[in-house]
Amino acid sequence: MSVAPWRSPLARALHNNRALPYARYFQLATVGANGYPANRTVVFRGFLENTNQLQIVTDSRSQKINHIQHQHWGEICWYFPKTREQFRLGGNLNLVTASHTSQGLRDARQIVWQELSDSARSQFAWPEPGVARVEDEAAFSPLPSDREQPLPNFCLLLLEPIQVDHLQLRGNPQNRWLYQQQSPDQWLKQAVNP
Ligand SMILES: Cc1cc2nc3c(=O)[nH]c(=O)nc-3n(C[C@H](O)[C@H](O)[C@H](O)COP(=O)(O)O)c2cc1C
Repeated sequence: MSVAPWRSPLARALHNNRALPYARYFQLATVGANGYPANRTVVFRGFLENTNQLQIVTDSRSQKINHIQHQHWGEICWYFPKTREQFRLGGNLNLVTASHTSQGLRDARQIVWQELSDSARSQFAWPEPGVARVEDEAAFSPLPSDREQPLPNFCLLLLEPIQVDHLQLRGNPQNRWLYQQQSPDQWLKQAVNP
């Protein structure tokens, strides 16, 4: 798999915004079984090795899991404040749990778990998200999780872009490019009106 052409402007944006920790957060939109969109902020965890797939970590008990099982299309919206540019990356979401059929992806899940901070790992030992708040606050101070073996509810979520819309506000007029995947190694890049 060759590196997609939108990777270089995205890498440049990440580099130029590296002083802003929140430039590594983006919004991930999914569609619920009721047809309604749902959107939330998540952290960019790098690219899956030798692919163009973006890595996200999430909890198998969260709402977005139902959405992805129902509709595997998702869209990332990522704004870089310093360089004033937006990337919208639409594509397939692939959920990697402990029982994923691919050994390579199960290994990738474990590597991402090992790279998390202790506090990020401990959130996967918290009580079920999105239900009534537990009375016992101690439930949010679990014992440290095993650094080697992910908790069962830990998921690696991969978004494999099929289309990318890059908008640069800087400049008058602004610049906008669309990238569309034609086949696994072939992308169409088109400058469009902003
Ligand atoms: C700055 C920030 C970073 C976040 N990072 C993640 C993340 O990496 N993974 C995640 O599942 N949720 C993350 N969240 C929480 C989500 O925004 C969301 O509240 C949670 O995943 C539940 O969403 P859902 O009910 O739609 O599944 C983050 C929230 C904020 C504000």
